[in-house]
Amino acid sequence: AKKTLLFSPITTKSVTAHNRIVVAPMCQYSAENGRMNHYHLAHYGSLALKGPGTVIIEATAVEARGRISPNDLGLWEEAQVEPLRQVIEMIVSQGSIPGIQLAHAGRKASMGSPFSLNGYSLVPEEQGGWPEDVVGPSDLPFNDQHAKVHALTLAEMQDIKQAWVDAAKRALRAGVKVMQIHGAHGYLLSNFVSGNTNLRTDDYGGSFENRIRYPLEVIQAVRDVWPQDYPFWVRISSSDVKDGQAMSRDDNGWDIYQSIEYAKELKKIGVDVIDCSTGGNLDGIQYPAGPCWQVPYAEAVKKEAGIATGAVGIITKGTEAEDILQQGKADYVCVAREFLRDSGFVLTAADQLGVAVKWPNQYERAYRERAPKL
Ligand code: FNR
Repeated sequence: AKKTLLFSPITTKSVTAHNRIVVAPMCQYSAENGRMNHYHLAHYGSLALKGPGTVIIEATAVEARGRISPNDLGLWEEAQVEPLRQVIEMIVSQGSIPGIQLAHAGRKASMGSPFSLNGYSLVPEEQGGWPEDVVGPSDLPFNDQHAKVHALTLAEMQDIKQAWVDAAKRALRAGVKVMQIHGAHGYLLSNFVSGNTNLRTDDYGGSFENRIRYPLEVIQAVRDVWPQDYPFWVRISSSDVKDGQAMSRDDNGWDIYQSIEYAKELKKIGVDVIDCSTGGNLDGIQYPAGPCWQVPYAEAVKKEAGIATGAVGIITKGTEAEDILQQGKADYVCVAREFLRDSGFVLTAADQLGVAVKWPNQYERAYRERAPKL
């Protein structure tokens, strides 16, 4: 049988995934009080059944006001642990490595889910929102349709750091193996790193060192409670793409060159993998999106910072995924929307590469008895 990198095992710390395909975190906006329910079992079950090496559960808020919408998952209280534990146990039973993305929405909080009554718009208090309690590094709203922002005090920043730590401990008790910190997409930590959204004049704003200080403190604190031999990922926005050009410099804002320096610091504090996403920090940006368009970020971070990376963004074919790995541009291939179109994307990718992967026993007959390909 043909050998590929995509379908070879990969080990990070003490954890080995049987292939290099990762289900990227995707908010499902289907939780109540931050808790998982039957929907999440069905959704993650449909994915885990068909062989991804790793499944990273969607953005899960470390405190209630850190949710994007009232329907986000959370881990800010004990009652949220058991429903998560059941989903984790199910993922493990199907042979995938379970991960979770911990998140704080920062200034993009208290919005409706895309399919809620009023769609993606500010949710008032009477409908379960918290527009008066939306926070960020500075009092700069995302746009007119988003909440006003309260600039965090130093004491509040310490409280939120503690919330990250407490949520991580709960994730560990629920059986999570791969921790991913959401440091991307215009949520709290990415607001801090970018001079476009961080206008602070204290030790946490201004210079590059100051802007990354709070995210580094948070990530260090979480890393300290996460077992040293378990994988630890950070998802970053590699650039704000302020002028619409992927590789442009934005020295006082956020660009790939600062992301490389940030990745070096993250490596020093024990981060294992940088998942290189982009953008979301500024309103009204035209992204130069297309197949595999963010891969150059993963490649730059891997080569320049000397740390493992995950590539993500419009990777929809097994052949594309294999090329990324063969060319040494990333270590993991993260796929989001294609898994919603085709929950069997791993099996599809194997077919595209001519790799014989093991189908679930219960489905094996359907594989064997397929019509021959023309
Ligand atoms: C996302 N994305 C996302 N990213 C993230 O870091 N945390 C999240 O919870 C979510 N939620 C989410 C929900 C839905 C419905 C979509 C479609 C996307 C972004 C996602 O992980 C990925 O980075 C992008 O979708 C680009 O990859 P694809 O979709 O082109 O493979």
